[in-house]
Parts: sequence; structure tokens; C-alpha cells
Amino acid sequence: MAFNFDQRIDRRHSDSLKWNKYADQDILPLWVADTDFRSPDCIIEAIKARAEQGIFGYGDKPTGFINSAVEWLASRYNWHVNPEWIVVLPGAASGLNLAVRAFTAPDQLTIAPTPIYPPFRGAAKLAERGQLNLPLSLQQGRWVLDLAAADGQMTGKERLLMLCNPQNPGGTVYRHDELQAQLEFARQHDPIVCSDEIHSDLLLEPGVQHIPFASLSEDAAQRSVTLMSPSKSFNIAGLGASMAVIPNAELRTRFNRMRRGIVPDVDILALAAAEAAWRDGSAWLSAQNAYLRSNRDWLVSQVNKLPGLSVAAPEASYLAWIDARGLGVASPALYFEKHGLGLSAGREFGDDQCVRLNFGCTRALLDEAVARLQRAVTARP
Ligand SMILES: Cc1ncc(COP(=O)(O)O)c(C=O)c1O
Repeated sequence: MAFNFDQRIDRRHSDSLKWNKYADQDILPLWVADTDFRSPDCIIEAIKARAEQGIFGYGDKPTGFINSAVEWLASRYNWHVNPEWIVVLPGAASGLNLAVRAFTAPDQLTIAPTPIYPPFRGAAKLAERGQLNLPLSLQQGRWVLDLAAADGQMTGKERLLMLCNPQNPGGTVYRHDELQAQLEFARQHDPIVCSDEIHSDLLLEPGVQHIPFASLSEDAAQRSVTLMSPSKSFNIAGLGASMAVIPNAELRTRFNRMRRGIVPDVDILALAAAEAAWRDGSAWLSAQNAYLRSNRDWLVSQVNKLPGLSVAAPEASYLAWIDARGLGVASPALYFEKHGLGLSAGREFGDDQCVRLNFGCTRALLDEAVARLQRAVTARP
């Protein structure tokens, strides 16, 4: 079946966070992580069918959602999950915050990669927990974790290791040996592991497989919380259907206790959408990933021709982490904004000389973005 990712959908003056930020300004919004693609018909039809009933009372335990999640994880990742391990959440970011609060005491620390998706840092800050940085370094075109650098800094108070696979930003898909090293690090220092795998379906690198951290071994499963969702894969982040997979019963109880009375159940339309996505969305997802791969290849080839900029090709996601320190400007994000590009500021991720560009958009929009990048670089001081 053919899907048209070139279709331009006007999101200006809609309720879009991404597009409203620059409404009425000539600035291309390439920041927050949603795409400009219309979700697959299976999702739209599922929402319509559920809405047609016209009754929107409290939902029961979402067995349809849970069963389709179990099947998705088994067929995509060969990860066999017991339905009881699944805690349904209205967002993966709430899972990060719950994990910090459920598994660390106020005098204990979290560990997180840097640079990192800002809510990893925010979750520790909001809970008033300290955070140890696990630096990423660029090796052979991939952003990898420097676990040895963290080894020397451990104080014994670290209780939660927060991982992001695929990495945001940077797009690394961790290989089996790298995950084993992460598990070994966890064994040695004994933290609980919260592995955010929300971008796992968005694989762009041919031949590369996503491996859930918890699927490595029984030990990995028993010490971990895995956050997953169809939100990024199918562009339904505004609906908010996510989950935490927690095989260990005691960890699950602590996590659930922390959410009680505070984090609501998931919207029934969101559940219908997510269930349909996982059940019937595979062909659309493959087509989308092929489109994103082509966008990535074009963007990376163009950016790396520009003096002052460099980017490693992300192996997954639709986010490019661009190093702009060679430009010699105080704030690359502000500089590019003045040249008509609304990018995510690297400062929020932990490196103010980088910017993150969201290429989950039509090729025509990306072409315009590349032209603006070229003009911005030519005009630099
Ligand atoms: C790594 C990562 N985790 C979590 C989220 C947010 O997920 P949610 O909208 O389900 O809270 C994002 C969104 O960009 C993300 O990139």
C-alpha cells in the first residue's frame, strides 16, 4: 500500500505546540518531537469507531491495549512480556518522574547520560534528587556512553540508572555488547535501571535491531523499568498512551504506589488508537521509516558540507544532533532562529553549542530548512 508522506498538512494556527511557537513568524518549527505526518488510517478509524458509541465513561482495565502491546513486543523485539508486568501510563515522561520518586530517597542520586532529553534532568530536579552525568562521546560516528568515566565518580548513593535507547539526542541504537556493558555497570553499582525506549520503533539504519535492556537476561529484567509507547512511532503523542514494563513485582508495587491518586488512567480514545497502531500499523511504520531515512541521509550529507557544523547520522528517531561550535556564536539556537529555523536549544540537553533538528517533516520543508541552514552559515560573523 502506498502512503504519502509528501502531503503537506497546514498545522499553523492549530492546537500544535510545535507550530504555534512560531505562528505568524517566518520560522520553520523543527523542534519538539512530533512529526508533521498524518497518522495511519487504522488509528483514525479506531478513534472514530470508539467515538461513534458516544459514551465516554470510565474505562475498565485496558486488556485490548495490553494484549496488542504484548504481541508488538514479541514480534518486533522477541521480548516475551507477561501482561501483568505492564503499567499503563498517560506519558513516558511521567514514567521517568515516577521512577525517580519511587526508587530514590531524597539523599540518593540518579545517573543519566549527557547530553540527554531534558525531562531526564527535570525528573531529578523536580524530585530534588542529585544527578550524576554519564558522558556520551562520539566514536566512529556514534554517540556512545563512557561508562568508565562514571565509574570513578560513583559515590555509593546512586540508586537509579536512567538510560535512553535509542538515545535522544544522538540517535544511537545500542548494540548487544554495549547493553551488556550497561548491565555489567548496573550489576557492579546495583542501581535500578529505568530504560526509556520510546524511539525503539523508529530504526533508520539498515540491519540494526533494537534490543530492550530488560530482554538481556533475567537479572536485567528484574532490576529494570522499561518505558515504551506508540506516541513517537505513529505520531500520536498528543493522545498520550504509554506504558512501563516492570517484571519485578516489588518494583511494580512501589511504582504503582507512587502514581496512585496523582497520575490518571489513560484516555479511552488514546487506548483505542494505540491498540490499532500496534495491531495494524506495521506497513505504515515501515514506509514512514523509509521516508525518514531518506530525509536523514539528505540532511546529514548537506549539514556536513557546511563549515562550522557537523552531525553524526542518527541510527534511529527523526532527531539530528548538530554540533555548531565551529560557528563561533554564543547561542547557535538563537542564531538559527534569527535565520528562520526553530531548533531545540542544546543547552536544555546539556550542551549549549549544539542544536537538535527534527526532520520528521515533508521533504519540501526539509529542503527549505537546509537552504536556510546554508544561508545562516554563510552569514556568520
Ligand atoms: C526519550 C523520550 N522520552 C519521553 C518522551 C516524552 O514522552 P511522552 O510524551 O509520552 O511523555 C520523549 C518525547 O520527545 C522522548 O524523546
